[in-house]
Amino acid sequence: YRKNYVFQAILSHLILTSALLLAALTAICWHIRDSYKVEGLRQKHVFITGCDSGFGELLARQLDQKGFHVLAACLTEKGAADLAAKASPRLKTLLLNVTDSESIRRAVEVVSKEVGQRGLWGLVNNAGRSVPIGPTDWMQLDDFTAVLDVNLIGVIDVTLQFLPLLKKAQGRVVNVASILGRLSLIGGGYCLSKFGVEAFSDSLRRDMAHFGIKVSIIEPGFFKTAVTRLDLIEADLKRLWTRLPQDIKASYGTAYFGDSQGFSMGILCSPDISKVTRCMEHALTAYFPRSRYSGGWDAKLFWIPLSYLPSFVSDFVISVLLPLPKDERSI
Ligand SMILES: *[C@@H]1O[C@H](CO)[C@@H](O)[C@H](O)[C@H]1NC(C)=O
Repeated sequence: YRKNYVFQAILSHLILTSALLLAALTAICWHIRDSYKVEGLRQKHVFITGCDSGFGELLARQLDQKGFHVLAACLTEKGAADLAAKASPRLKTLLLNVTDSESIRRAVEVVSKEVGQRGLWGLVNNAGRSVPIGPTDWMQLDDFTAVLDVNLIGVIDVTLQFLPLLKKAQGRVVNVASILGRLSLIGGGYCLSKFGVEAFSDSLRRDMAHFGIKVSIIEPGFFKTAVTRLDLIEADLKRLWTRLPQDIKASYGTAYFGDSQGFSMGILCSPDISKVTRCMEHALTAYFPRSRYSGGWDAKLFWIPLSYLPSFVSDFVISVLLPLPKDERSI
């Protein structure tokens, strides 16, 4: 009886000690990640795609203020002009279409002249699009490739073409994925592309570690950007719905389209996009950047944990969030 008691006492001591040790180690790791910064930001160049709006635009201005040489790639002339008007003369804008290899080649040429022998310190693959999204049987093959070409093939093409400049500087690659790269919430090319970005970034990180290049993945939750703009998503859903054959429309019920606004309405988007750009800045300035950053409390506390649970749990949660076909008997 006494032996049992001693054993229990030792065991509870052991558990308590390991918990304290673990907490201390985590705190030390956090501290190290936050306090050791790379030096000489004013001599470093960062190339960012998708700077017309959202995360890219804010990050460009934020890094500009920190003293980085920012090379901000925009899709549109207007995006480039608006950004240039808000930034210091040090920031340079250029036009880039990530689905056009020739356009990327021209950007590499410009950047190469700009950075000289120093090489490129940072590449931020931020450009992306969301639509078309919606139920899978509303889609045609083109709807998938339209998104994959920008969000995945574009990221791969840009990265491959910029790698020689990054190797020169032993720099950083920061790829914007999403919590939708962990959990496929919705049909269409978006989740596929983000799962692809996760996989591409994982192999890139392992392959490039030998050359001193560090790769980080950003996984934002839901934020108010062009990617989550309700009017665009709904206008596109309407296009898909109008195009559907009568039998598929009937299987969803005629009331479904009005309801399908729940796709985006049901999910709250945070307006504070600086939560995400702070992660990107950490990935570019910390001596020990993380491999993965989850942006926003919804990502940290809900989506990422949900992605680790069994499929029947995540299927149930997602089915509660998304609208259901009305007349299920007729399917
Ligand atoms: C981007 O390039 C692709 C391929 O060359 C082209 O089809 C598309 O229209 C271009 N997009 C824009 C906005 O210029």
